[in-house]
Amino acid sequence: MRSLLNILDLSVEEIDELIAVANDIIANPERYQEACKHKTLATLFFEPSTRTRLSFESAMLSLGGNVLGFSEASSSSSAKGESVSDTVAVVSGYADIIAMRHPKEGAPLVASMHSEVPIINAGDGGHYHPTQTLTDLLTIYHEKGSFENLTVGFCGDLKFGRTVHSLIGAMSRYNGVKFVLISPDELKLPTFIKEEFIEDKGIEYEQSRILEDVIGKLDILYMTRVQRERFFNEEEYLRLKNTYVLTADKMEEAKRDMIVMHPLPRVNEISTAVDSDPRAAYFRQARYGKFIRMALIMKLLGVKA
Ligand code: NCD
Repeated sequence: MRSLLNILDLSVEEIDELIAVANDIIANPERYQEACKHKTLATLFFEPSTRTRLSFESAMLSLGGNVLGFSEASSSSSAKGESVSDTVAVVSGYADIIAMRHPKEGAPLVASMHSEVPIINAGDGGHYHPTQTLTDLLTIYHEKGSFENLTVGFCGDLKFGRTVHSLIGAMSRYNGVKFVLISPDELKLPTFIKEEFIEDKGIEYEQSRILEDVIGKLDILYMTRVQRERFFNEEEYLRLKNTYVLTADKMEEAKRDMIVMHPLPRVNEISTAVDSDPRAAYFRQARYGKFIRMALIMKLLGVKA
């Protein structure tokens, strides 16, 4: 039995296979409509979500399976003080696979030690978010055609942004990738990510506080929301939240084939005027999330179309 806790739990070859299956699902959805018949996915979301939870549920329903779960900690027994390990030990008796989001880093790992069924990390605190990364990789595959020789800029909250941490880990395995890390000093990439995925691998990178200074060299601009819920101090959040706003004017400085990605939800960091720019890939990106999650559920359940 296999869980997905960190994107590096999957090899590059396995990611290629998931992308191939997702593409086949996009082309031939009818072939998959009974792939997970009589299987049940539980979504245990101890933190807010729109896309991740609904795309998991929609993925399982399109595979002919069933879904159950909760979407807030307050409506589960964790509000009564139940531990994650007890909740999971029980739910793994009701479901064949569990997708779990939790505010504490490492909670899905603990869950996997008490579960009879695969656990998918759907976001653990400011740590990792591997299924968003699969979504991001499917998007990059469709928009750029390859993962190699890309200069990827990450802009915004690189400290708490778990989608950034996982995508840097995944992209660090491809040749010719360069990173440009754009953040205020207070929201820089954590050392553990920078050392393990960038410096130890000898990957070229640069850091900047100013988006306009570097936007012209990027193939991908990955914008992120300042993660309000992870701040200890509301004043600090208010001071930093509008550090970057991508506007149509700034897009003029970007390459004609640069794409803008964002895991969403967007707050203020991309002006809505950018939405109509064909380089704005974030709504297309959200759609890809469902198909790659279908492929992942099938893989972890060991089912074939
Ligand atoms: C992200 C998350 O939850 O980390 N959202 C998502 O899953 N698409 C990004 C965010 O909340 O800013």
